Amino acid sequence: MSDEIETGVIRVNAIQPEASIIEYATGILRTGNVVAFPTETVYGLGADVFQPAALERIFVAKGRPHSDPLIAHIADEASLEQLTTALSDEAKRLVAAFWPGPLTLILPRSPRVPHLATAGLETVAVRMPRHAVAQALIRALGSPIAAPSANRFMHVSPTTAQHVLADLAGRVPLILDGGSCEVGVESTVLDLCSEQPTILRPGGVSLEALRAVVPDVQPPPPRYRKADESDQLAAQPSPGQMLTHYAPAVPLLLYDGNVESMRSAMLAELRQRQGRGERIGVLVADEDVATFSQSGAMMYSLGNVADPAQIASSLFQGLRALEDAHVQLILCRQFNDRGLGLAIRDRLLKAAGGRVIECSP
Ligand code: TXA
Ligand code: MG
Repeated sequence: MSDEIETGVIRVNAIQPEASIIEYATGILRTGNVVAFPTETVYGLGADVFQPAALERIFVAKGRPHSDPLIAHIADEASLEQLTTALSDEAKRLVAAFWPGPLTLILPRSPRVPHLATAGLETVAVRMPRHAVAQALIRALGSPIAAPSANRFMHVSPTTAQHVLADLAGRVPLILDGGSCEVGVESTVLDLCSEQPTILRPGGVSLEALRAVVPDVQPPPPRYRKADESDQLAAQPSPGQMLTHYAPAVPLLLYDGNVESMRSAMLAELRQRQGRGERIGVLVADEDVATFSQSGAMMYSLGNVADPAQIASSLFQGLRALEDAHVQLILCRQFNDRGLGLAIRDRLLKAAGGRVIECSP
């Protein structure tokens, strides 16, 4: 491509970001360009929320439709005044309990927020990340930073700078490399503008944790709607709900049910495909490793099933590792829905295009 730009990658200290590097990156943001940076959830592709031309660059770099609104990232509560008109008592309690952290609140939009950031909606998504690099960038810019995940549209979100580079090399001027993201799945998106507070996207803050602060928080609708052409035409309540939003580049078959029956169904499929000479990847937990270690499949273990935070933090890394191993198909087990499990289940379901193979003993 002739209009490719050179992409710089700079290592930055994730705990105490070097002031000179933050100043350099901020200079790029000030001139209306984009910078990819680490947050505690996934890498974001940031631009000054008050520069519409800079926002446009985000959509172009990602290949993202304008119908999908962006999250405005702030570093202090005072910045809420620039973005929203009113903060309910409920919102104040959630802010006190979970910010900075992986919770995005949907709030009434201030007229100052450009339409490009909100996809023309009357609401705005706001989050205060706790990652030191994200906070330092926002503070140095002195303006909220709009940032979607720093992946190509429809691809798995990036949790390392290498993932960002794989998707956006030649399309963004700078990637700040702060190592791996701790949480590994995106923030929980909580709608505070609907009748009852409702989770639009499960993520880094669990339903249980939210309910401890606001008891009537509603879980996300259990079934996702199939994405169709109309998704490209109109702003959706939360376009992240599209079934295919997180698809890996390789097809994925998802197995749900009790552990023994999931394993035997996966093994049966694996043997059949290997008999046809196919190269298969399996995405499993530590407790499944013995079952698959001699199977001849490319295996990636996400961690201990009893530790959903560990599974979440390696989920996107695991999907990308199997993609990079050039397998033709990924067989993956499903996880329980406790804590971060709700977000894990959601991302795997999306990676599987919404189809689940139910296994019974
Ligand atoms: O953890 C995260 O949230 C990461 C990091 C970079 O902060 N960001 C992220 O952004 O995941 P993105 O754009 O990939 O996902 C934002 C989600 C989308 O599902 C979008 O539809 C939804 O938030 N969203 C944004 N504004 C909204 C609004 N006004 N109403 C409803 N949903 C909204
Ligand atoms: Mg995204």
